[in-house]
Amino acid sequence: MVAATHQTSEGWSSRWAFILAAIGAAVGLGNVWRFPTLAGENGGGAFVLFYIGCVVLIGLPLVLSEILVGRAGRSDAVGSTRNVAAASGRSSRWAVLGWVEIITAFLIVSFYSVVAGWVFYYVGVMGVDFFGALASGDPFASAFQGEAAETVQGRLGGLLGNPWMLIAMHVVFMGVTFWVVASGVHDGIEKAAIWLMPAFFVLLIGITIYGAVVGDMTETLAFMFQPDFSRLTAQAMNEALGQALFSMSLGSAALMTYGAYVSRETKLAPTAAMIAFADTGVAIIAGLMIFPIVFAVGLDPAAGPTLVFQSLPVAFQQMPAGSLIGFLFFVLIFFAALTSSISLLEGPTSWGINERGWSRGKSAGIFAFCAFLIGVLCALGYNILSDVRPLGFWNIFAEADILDTVDGFTGKVMLPVAALLTAIFVGWRADKKLVENESGLEGAMFGVWRFLVAWVSPIAVGLILVFGLFPGLVPQ
Ligand code: TRP
Repeated sequence: MVAATHQTSEGWSSRWAFILAAIGAAVGLGNVWRFPTLAGENGGGAFVLFYIGCVVLIGLPLVLSEILVGRAGRSDAVGSTRNVAAASGRSSRWAVLGWVEIITAFLIVSFYSVVAGWVFYYVGVMGVDFFGALASGDPFASAFQGEAAETVQGRLGGLLGNPWMLIAMHVVFMGVTFWVVASGVHDGIEKAAIWLMPAFFVLLIGITIYGAVVGDMTETLAFMFQPDFSRLTAQAMNEALGQALFSMSLGSAALMTYGAYVSRETKLAPTAAMIAFADTGVAIIAGLMIFPIVFAVGLDPAAGPTLVFQSLPVAFQQMPAGSLIGFLFFVLIFFAALTSSISLLEGPTSWGINERGWSRGKSAGIFAFCAFLIGVLCALGYNILSDVRPLGFWNIFAEADILDTVDGFTGKVMLPVAALLTAIFVGWRADKKLVENESGLEGAMFGVWRFLVAWVSPIAVGLILVFGLFPGLVPQ
């Protein structure tokens, strides 16, 4: 441990509590909504394989790096990077890494809560449908009986066009997130993870088995695992690496902040491996859960972001027990989103506590409220402010509405910058002995890991940053 100021006194009650909370952070809308969307749009197989390569060679090494900085520094993201820099005889300006991560987390939670609000709305819609079926004595009915497919699909448009409904759902979601974070590491974050994550896994496995039985698994397996490398464009690689960072919650303060609450005895390397493995496993299983249902009723896997909100409800309309399964499906996504938003808010909150001396409730309240306001703008971007293009002067964001701009800017700019800085900091600037002791890796394993952090990650992330920002440079 490094001697320094502003250290946290909070901690997990066990190694498992930490693992579940970190998996809860990692597993979210990114796995069940964004990953299947991107895999679908980018042709499946080759994208999935490339994604797995990114996870192993870049994501996993960086997961260990971030947790390690957190535990060595024992503070919020800013404090921990500053402490580790000081212990390594480096400039306190390295705290900028922590700053980038905290601002990124703050911006992500603002729009994440809006999208999670849609999920919450669908929990309600499907819930009404299911409990109606239950009341009429047919719990295994298919969903939305007697409704035209256009009506079912039209719900998303109806929701997006209704600012009050969007904001109401966003308020509820941000409110619950705030309440959990304000309750503390032990009584809030940990309890939420311990209840929600096992429930999530049960639902995930259950719905996947359902899909395998009533859906088209053969076509799904071919789609997801038969690589057609001609579909693996530079653009697709770019998206895969960006998605790997987002999905593992890298570059957005979560792992550093959670790392600070980990006890000295916990071995970090196997823990980091479990987090990366679980996150990737869930993304792949989510594909195996969604696509059989999509293929069974002949829908387009490349539908894009509306796949989950528009295509699937139509599929549930044609499937046995679609009403029940549809309801459980959105409950599942809701749980995943909630444990993620909790850790997104915890990063900035921990900064307020350690660096500003605020109480936990005050810090969580300030950040939740400010993120809520930005989220309101994102929500209004679908209706009243639908003409607004915040970064319209920048060609890659020229078409992006408010939510897409915040999403795109954090994903394409801030996450890669944070990952790049992490790799340079841990790979080159932090004291090698300190890093080695803290990682728990020895000999050749340490050498391999350090090579991945110091060389592979910065080069790969640097490339996506450049190609992501200047798509014109991408070789076609
Ligand atoms: N990993 C989350 C998901 O897949 C999203 C996310 C990105 C996140 N950065 C984070 C969650 C930081 C918690 C903390 O949905």
